[in-house]
Amino acid sequence: MEGSEAIRPDKLGAAAAPEAWKGIGAMTGVERRGDVVICKAERGGAAVLFPAPGIFRIKFFYGGEADLTSTIAIDPAYRQKTESEIQVEETEKSLTLRTSVMEVELEKGSFMLTARDLEGRVISRQTSIAFDPRGGARAVYDMSPESHFYGLGEKSSFLDKRGERYTNWNTDVYAPHMPEIEALYQSIPFLIHMNGGESCGLFLDNPGLTEVDMRSHGVAYTMSCATGAYDLYVIAGPRLKDVVMRYTALTGRIQLPPRWALGYHQSRYSYMDQREVLELARTFREKQIPCDVIYLDIHYMDEYRVFTFDPVRFPDPEGMMKELRAMGIRIVPIVDPGVKNDPKYRIYREGVQQKHFCTKLEGEIYLGEVWPGTSAFPDFTDDRTAAWWGDQHDFYTSYGIEGIWNDMNEPAIFNESKTMDLDVIHRNNGDMKTHEELHNLYGMLMSKATSEGLERHMDNRRPFVLTRAGYAGIQRYAAVWTGDNRSFWEHMALAMPMVLNMGLSGLPFSGPDIGGFAHHTSGELLVRWTQMGVFFPYCRNHSSIDTIRQEPWSFGPATEKILRDYIGLRYRWMPHLYNLFQEASATGLPVIRPLVLEYPDDPKVTNLCDQFLLGDSVLVAPVYRPDTDHRAVYLPEGKWIHYWTGEELEGGRHILAESPLEIMPMYMKAGTILPEGPLKQHADDQADDALAFHVYGAEAREGFAASYSLYEDDGASFDYRQQQFSRLNVSLTGKEGALELSYSYAHREYQADRDRLTFKLHKPGFTACSVEGLASVTEEQLRQGAEGWLLDEASGELIIQVKDGKPSGELIIQVKDGKPSGSLNIFAVK
Ligand code: GLC
Repeated sequence: MEGSEAIRPDKLGAAAAPEAWKGIGAMTGVERRGDVVICKAERGGAAVLFPAPGIFRIKFFYGGEADLTSTIAIDPAYRQKTESEIQVEETEKSLTLRTSVMEVELEKGSFMLTARDLEGRVISRQTSIAFDPRGGARAVYDMSPESHFYGLGEKSSFLDKRGERYTNWNTDVYAPHMPEIEALYQSIPFLIHMNGGESCGLFLDNPGLTEVDMRSHGVAYTMSCATGAYDLYVIAGPRLKDVVMRYTALTGRIQLPPRWALGYHQSRYSYMDQREVLELARTFREKQIPCDVIYLDIHYMDEYRVFTFDPVRFPDPEGMMKELRAMGIRIVPIVDPGVKNDPKYRIYREGVQQKHFCTKLEGEIYLGEVWPGTSAFPDFTDDRTAAWWGDQHDFYTSYGIEGIWNDMNEPAIFNESKTMDLDVIHRNNGDMKTHEELHNLYGMLMSKATSEGLERHMDNRRPFVLTRAGYAGIQRYAAVWTGDNRSFWEHMALAMPMVLNMGLSGLPFSGPDIGGFAHHTSGELLVRWTQMGVFFPYCRNHSSIDTIRQEPWSFGPATEKILRDYIGLRYRWMPHLYNLFQEASATGLPVIRPLVLEYPDDPKVTNLCDQFLLGDSVLVAPVYRPDTDHRAVYLPEGKWIHYWTGEELEGGRHILAESPLEIMPMYMKAGTILPEGPLKQHADDQADDALAFHVYGAEAREGFAASYSLYEDDGASFDYRQQQFSRLNVSLTGKEGALELSYSYAHREYQADRDRLTFKLHKPGFTACSVEGLASVTEEQLRQGAEGWLLDEASGELIIQVKDGKPSGELIIQVKDGKPSGSLNIFAVK
């Protein structure tokens, strides 16, 4: 017999509700509350403000009242901030707000929003916004045939997101990472729209489900949210770089990582026991392959209980750690959020007794299946729980561990939805919200708690946190790896646009599992992937259980040699890499960059993403197909020097680069200065600390100029915040027949461990010269640390060495018709 269930409305065609989406209606009043302007409308309104002259915020409300709370994505410095120099102009038809950078006009009838630069050019236009009275909103924005889109954090497919549609919902995607996959582990609802020459950013600060669609609406694109507030930031350019810098001022920039975190990292799911870990470390040292970190995946734990060691596999973690430390190798263990449901387990007991776990509204603890079996999940939205979780990390710091790997923090749960029930409650410091509303914040809050906890227990040393999940602003707390890719050539290629767009989305410290996580790598794929990976900001080789081994020596001596050389190159370039990280922490600009960031007016590079720049002047062109000994490379305008051969090439064209297995094509823009240190086996290796500034394409002619500003500090502590760093400025200026080389310490509260500075001019285009004030010396004398210069006639390289004891110096390199000139002794010591 059937019951009333048979006539449930959703079983009948009548279930669909009438179209309920509505605008907020016309503007009915404007009210100023300090620097905030509240625009009232028939069915709600919007609060508008400028946190900074180039950043406009509009938070809509449908019904109810204006509420100006921000999410944690916004850097604390910007949460309360408003710009006071705003001009407000109101006419019958519109309201216009103007700062020294941009103006925004709101049409009173329709609420159409137009942002312009001060020359009156439209940089962004929201033509309409509609609300679903049950929650959710969708806004429509203009685009043009010249529109290109970047950002959006960790997304698959190419660099330019035109024609794509994405969902932001942190998702554990073991497979497949395909071009059409809409959501991965990170959610950054920040889109950069480059239109003609001008760029503008839109950041929709909503940690629930959001969607960005540049595919379905012809001349328009949409940004929508499924629940919560439509809290939009319009970020002015005009250059792409300006947008990235402003966005990272708003959502924060990375803290300087410890230098060891920039080294080579080795991981596997899992190194199964203490013996295997030590054996691995010894092999790196025996084979002289530099390495800073070994990861412990889930098998180090006692039945996957976080904050424990398995007593059988790892009977003596302290002894293991001591031995590793003596080899200069650090351990980074994995920590997942799921806490095993086990009344005998202290963390679980404490979590229950002190009410740290996520619950349903009725109070029952939410339990889900993950590695340890049934588990509870800390509610990181509550500061009290975050502090409790952070403090548990003294378990690790007491062993000398300084880095933690946060995984499964979407949170991933082994069920159909792959995550927590949407009606789980987050206490959120008294402002209770559902998981549906805060889903994308879970991973970031876990990493925040972890990073802050580590810092509390590390006595002025910088912690390192790696995370899989995150939201806008995650860069303040953690580096990011791109999750479970596969050992496919396609996934190697996919990593480039993904990591490049992460860089444009405020996340400069990221990288994929080198060699691929799932599936089986090959020697050739590992070589090509490592060649590329050593130039990525985050550099870790990681592979899954039951896959072929992929440590650098797994494919025989020829492969091993190439990997050793490229990993070694990363270590030799460490001063430059560290400098780029310092720049990222100060400006927000990424460590590796798509060419469009440096050459936004070159139409050939708008979607170029199979080559990239390290900083602004080193072009890296990985080989990402098997059996390939040539590849096409695009050199933008200017002169470029082939890194391996020294050949000079004119840019503004494509070239065909030779790329036998041991060569990944790389080009230095003429005028590049790059500081190189000695080859080290780990970042803090006590090897001779001679520093050489390599100069590419220097020319003894009027108009030539090159410069570099080197930042240095102890690479480990927070003392740099108390000015304990140094800044050494180096410049080269061309004159007719001469080059002027100057260097000076603009700040020197930190003394690097070295006694000399070396300058190495590669093929500077002359065969004979002299350096005024310095004697010509032999190679051996240079090695011994003597001041002087040497022209290696075979390679055309000029090497100059001075003592690093002086605050500054100037050298004139005389070049005369290919013959050495007399020395005028004007080497000045200031
Ligand atoms: C997840 C991670 C992976 C890790 C594995 C086991 O799949 O993404 O990196 O090795 O879990 O912990």
